[in-house]
Amino acid sequence: MNSNTPIKHLNSIEDLSIAEIEHLIDKALFFKNSPLKDINKTLSDKFCFNMFFENSTRTINSFSVAAQSLGAHVINNTTSNSSSSKGEDDFDTIKNIAAMGAKFIVIRHPHNMFTHLCAKLPNLTHQPIFINAGDGTNEHPTQALGDWFLINQHCKNLNKNTKELKIVLFGDLLNSRVAHSHIKLFNMLNINHNIHLVAPIELQLDYRQTYPNLNYSFKLNESIKDADIIMAFRFKKEYTSNNIHSGTFSEFKNFYQLNHQNIHLANKNVLVLHPGPVNREIELSSKLMDDLQYSQILSQVSHGVAMRKAIFAHLAHINNH
Ligand code: CP
Repeated sequence: MNSNTPIKHLNSIEDLSIAEIEHLIDKALFFKNSPLKDINKTLSDKFCFNMFFENSTRTINSFSVAAQSLGAHVINNTTSNSSSSKGEDDFDTIKNIAAMGAKFIVIRHPHNMFTHLCAKLPNLTHQPIFINAGDGTNEHPTQALGDWFLINQHCKNLNKNTKELKIVLFGDLLNSRVAHSHIKLFNMLNINHNIHLVAPIELQLDYRQTYPNLNYSFKLNESIKDADIIMAFRFKKEYTSNNIHSGTFSEFKNFYQLNHQNIHLANKNVLVLHPGPVNREIELSSKLMDDLQYSQILSQVSHGVAMRKAIFAHLAHINNH
């Protein structure tokens, strides 16, 4: 690669073109259907560092499985086992990891835009490819891409066009980085008119200026009528204590819980997605969460691994590493 060519990172869903997203879905399908032994070891002898400054179950392990499947050496760092806990500046931590010759640095961080800023760090002795694994309340692009892959597969099975889907997002949308990435993706796909955002007023988004044609409501049961896809988002107690009154959490499940009493309002083939972790008996009843006729939560995880393999392979290829 020409040294003047900028490195392509994945900080936001908007870093990708529609053609690239379609390519990633094809590639993810290939990986999902390929036995591990048949997978080209694209990342053989490369080092992939997962730098997680915030806890994770799904994302850190999904990136580890994906990178190792492609032959990479994977090193996981969390705040508790790094010198962050001694007060090291997080950007200094990243610079040191880059200096070790990291090919990829996958970052989760509590601050919005942290990975974007890492991608602009000057004076690195070695330039890695950065991937955003969730930054504050801003974005979680690889989760949205994995979910979109799953939805595409569902449409293929039903012989349905993704542009015909009625998609409902409900819960704490304001603080959900996954919801933000999905909404950016829907806007790129030009399907905003089919997207319904449902939340109590304190947790609702207002994208009227940025992304026109989205539908807004605070009534879950009304909104899920004939829905094809329902995405639930966790009520985030850690973010909401300052901006909503204390009764909202206990009342939330009365007005914003999806369960076997209201799911029948949706389309009969409806898929229920949730990026996890789930508050059982709050946004989803336990019974619905475990009902595989509807619940795609574990399928999201397996599609996420395949999508992350596709993302690694794509970024390695276009950066000519
Ligand atoms: N979906 C997701 O980001 O889950 P984790 O917080 O467990 O990584």
